[in-house]
Order: sequence, then structure tokens, then C-alpha cells
Amino acid sequence: MTRVFVPRDALAIALGADEVAAAIAASCPQAMIVRNGSRGMAWLEPLVEVETQAGRIGYGPVEPGDVAGLVAAGFLAGGPHAKRIGRPEDVPFFARQTRVTFSRCGLTDPVSLDDYKALGGLSGLRRALAMDGLAIVEEVTKSGLRGRGGAGFPTGIKWRTVMGAQGPQKYIVCNADEGDSGTFADRMVMEGDPFLLIEGMIIAGIAVGATRGYVYLRSEYPQSVLTMNQAVAEAWRAGVLGPSVLGSAHAFELEIRVGAGAYVCGEETSLLDSLEGKRGQVRAKPPLPALEGFLGKPTVVNNVLSLAAVPDILAGGAAAYQALGYGRSRGTIPVQLAGNIRFGGLFEVPFGITLGELVMEIGGGTASGRPVRAVQVGGPLGAYFPPALFDTVFDYEAFAARDGLIGHGGVVVFDDTVDMAQMARFAMEFCSIESCGKCTPCRIGSTRGVEVIDKIVAGDTAQIGLLEDLCDTMKFGSLCALGGFTPYPVLSALRHFGEDFRRTQHALAAE
Ligand SMILES: Cc1cc2nc3c(=O)[nH]c(=O)nc-3n(C[C@H](O)[C@H](O)[C@H](O)COP(=O)(O)O)c2cc1C
Ligand code: SF4
Repeated sequence: MTRVFVPRDALAIALGADEVAAAIAASCPQAMIVRNGSRGMAWLEPLVEVETQAGRIGYGPVEPGDVAGLVAAGFLAGGPHAKRIGRPEDVPFFARQTRVTFSRCGLTDPVSLDDYKALGGLSGLRRALAMDGLAIVEEVTKSGLRGRGGAGFPTGIKWRTVMGAQGPQKYIVCNADEGDSGTFADRMVMEGDPFLLIEGMIIAGIAVGATRGYVYLRSEYPQSVLTMNQAVAEAWRAGVLGPSVLGSAHAFELEIRVGAGAYVCGEETSLLDSLEGKRGQVRAKPPLPALEGFLGKPTVVNNVLSLAAVPDILAGGAAAYQALGYGRSRGTIPVQLAGNIRFGGLFEVPFGITLGELVMEIGGGTASGRPVRAVQVGGPLGAYFPPALFDTVFDYEAFAARDGLIGHGGVVVFDDTVDMAQMARFAMEFCSIESCGKCTPCRIGSTRGVEVIDKIVAGDTAQIGLLEDLCDTMKFGSLCALGGFTPYPVLSALRHFGEDFRRTQHALAAE
């Protein structure tokens, strides 16, 4: 039998991977089909790989109608075909990466624990089981890992707070809400290497003394829900989860919970309310979730990527992870290239690469072939960068110094047909729709923001000062970052693309 890999990742399935797998199964009785995760090269999906003596040979993007031709070309032996890409790891987009968190993604059957273990899985957990909680927390602190959910808060410090908190029950909550525009790295982990997240959560539990965990997953990710549930069931069956983790004295139970769909439920305190069955609304801090979180008990809330980085930190040691990176941003960042970009997908790289390298060299510029005009980094609350700022280094502090943020590592590219005044309006409108309503600057301010931008665009540019004042109020008066960071896209659009706000005024003056 020849092993043929067809991804079960949501992107590949959306592009016909299930039909491709069925067509191969129907026409190649000698093929053993493995449904793997994605390699993260979106433009090649569905990427079919065949195991040959020369390694795995890829063909992509494959449509069901291509299968007959692939069979005729002898693809099971790696035969030549217009869609043959050679070894996926030799594709420049892939070859330039430093895959740590995503080292297994795309290689394995995501729900096979044997595959996971064969490629080093569970070695971090085994090491953690031989350490005490404080030593694990110190290892994570030394690695320099910072939260990948958006705020970049040091993971080790958060864990230390929960470890030191008193209480009979503590929790590990994984934030898998992944609401940022253009982001899909959490989804790829959950659909391509779910045991990695499970392992990271168990290690967190052992470190802080928590015996229960929840993954809060967005309802828009049904394939992730399916894969995570399959992996959790397998982990229970194999004794990785349960009353005695890998036969140790540590217990860890894990459940997948699905949110109903609200951007603000990615904010950690809203998430906790939603997890408790309430309407997702932001809680005032203090108390910190680390001290009074889920059901009022000490809780670690971490993003998928933060938790998924932990097994490698434990397995390879903090120093190896810490050795990668730039400034105070240590390790790798899985950048997600999206929007109008030629080569979109997941690109894991140590911090320190420039925005220009990512967009122009790795991403190959726009898919439309037109000039890049703006790039939004960090989701809907992130700033817009013009090409003049492409020398900005991927590093939390470097982005902050230019009034931007890295957020969850989403990079969304726009060409020169974009109207940036409309993008600023969209940021305010998004905030008004998604606002949880708890505080006035966000709830009322965002609606007033839409109105003010409409007036400016209609020619009343005297209102620009009012828009700036409003942004100031939202930035400093909002309870959480939804209202507090909406000014980033608005003000960056105004600063770097001011001409888009003045078009009508100029047209009126020219009449
Ligand atoms: C409006 C809003 C939405 C957020 N959405 C997410 C999200 O989808 N995923 C996430 O991990 N963090 C999100 N965050 C950040 C979380 O509040 C929190 O900082 C994070 O889960 C902590 O995990 P980390 O330390 O591992 O980054 C959001 C924050 C805000 C204000
Ligand atoms: S800033 Fe917006 S989302 Fe955040 S608490 Fe205030 S109203 Fe709610």
C-alpha cells in the first residue's frame, strides 16, 4: 500500500479535500489514505502528498477532476504532472520557516496518538511529570514565552500567580475563540496537531495545581470541534488525560466547550462569563482571572498558541526556545498571511523578521498584482501600516513604538484600490456591533465614530479633530481593549492615508 495524504483541515475541506480523497480511494485500491493536517500553504490546498522512496511528493492544488490525470501520470510513484510541487519542505515558503509549534502539523494524522508520539509528542509532559510545579513555572518563565492571544503578557508570570493562589480547585482555560480577522493559527493547531494543545494544557495544570481544563472554541470552527473531541477521547482512552496522567499522581480532565459567536467572548473575562453559561460581558479587573476566574476560582487563561508552545519548551529546554527571537519577544511567532496576498498561509518564524519581508518576499505581494497600499497587523483592532513602514520588525515593542500591535499575528494585505476612510469607518462599525455594552466610551463612542467619519467623508473635514478627541476618549476611557484599541486602525488610517478622508472636500473645492 502507498500512503497518500489528503488534509482534513477546514481550509482544504472547503476547497474539496473530501471529494479528492474519495476520488483517490475510488480509483487507487493500492492507496492508503491518511487524512493529515495542513502544511499551511493555503494556495496549494488541497495539497495531496504521496509517500515515495524520495520522500513525500506533493501535488496541489488538487481538484477532484484532477485525480484521473494524476493516476495516469503515475502520481503514486511521484510521477511528473503539472501540479507536482516536489517535496513540500523544499517549497521556499516552507523552507524559510523555523517550525517549532507547527513542527508536526501536516506530517501526521492529527488524531493518531502513535503518530504524535513517533514525532516527539509527550516528551515535554514526561519531563514535566518529573519536576515540581515551581520548576515548570520557572522553565516557562526562563523561555521568555509571552501570550500569543494579543497582549503579549509573560506566560510564566501568569502561571506563577495562579500557582501561588489559594483554593481547592483551579482551572486551565484555553482561549480558542480566534476572532481576529485573517487569523487561523489556533485552528491549524487544533485541526492539525490537537495533542500538542492537550499536552500543553496538562503541563499547565501540573505547574499550577489545576486538575480541570476547558477549551473554549468558537462555533465557526466545526472541524476543530470534531478533531479536538476525537483527540480528547483518544487521550482519555490512552491514560494521557484522566485521574492518573500517564500513570502519575497527577489528575487532569479536559472538556471542549463551544461558544455561541461573539468577538468580545475572546476577551478573557467575557469568555469566562460565557463558559459559566452567562451572557459574555467583560468583567472589571481586579480581580484578575488568575485569582478569581472560572466560577470565581484561580484560573489560567491562555491562548492556543501559548499553550501549544509549552511542550517544546519543556522537551527542548527553556534556553533553546529563548535563543530564538528578538529583543523581549522570544521564540517563534506563527504569522498568518491573509487578505489580498499571493502566497497566503501560515509562516512560523522567530521574532525579528520585518513586515516588508513577510508581505513582499514571503507573501509575494498582492494576489491582484496591484501595488500593496496598506497592511493591517493584529486583527480588527490593529493598526494599518503603509509600505513606508515595512522596515518595522516583528517584535511587540517595535510595533508598539509605531502605534501598532502584533496581536495574534494576523497580517491582512490590501492593494491600492482600498478606501482607507471606509476601513476606518468599518473599524468603528465593527466595534459598535461587537461591543458588549458595559462601558460608555465603547458602546456610544463607536456609534458616534461611524457618524463622524461619515460627515468627514461627506466633506466636513473640520470634524477630524472631533474624531481624534473621540479616539482619545475611547483609548483611555474604555474598560477593555475592544473599545480601547479601536482607535488604532482609525487613527493609523487617518495618519497614513489622510487623503482618503479628504476626497470629497477636494472635489468640492475643485468645482
Ligand atoms: C475584544 C477582545 C478579543 C480577544 N480575542 C481573543 C481571542 O480570540 N483569542 C485569544 O487568545 N485572546 C483574545 N483576546 C485576549 C484575551 O483577553 C487574553 O489576553 C488572552 O486569552 C490571554 O492569553 P495569552 O496570555 O496566552 O495571550 C481578546 C481580547 C479582547 C479585548
Ligand atoms: S470596551 Fe466595549 S467591549 Fe470592552 S467592556 Fe467596554 S463596552 Fe464592553
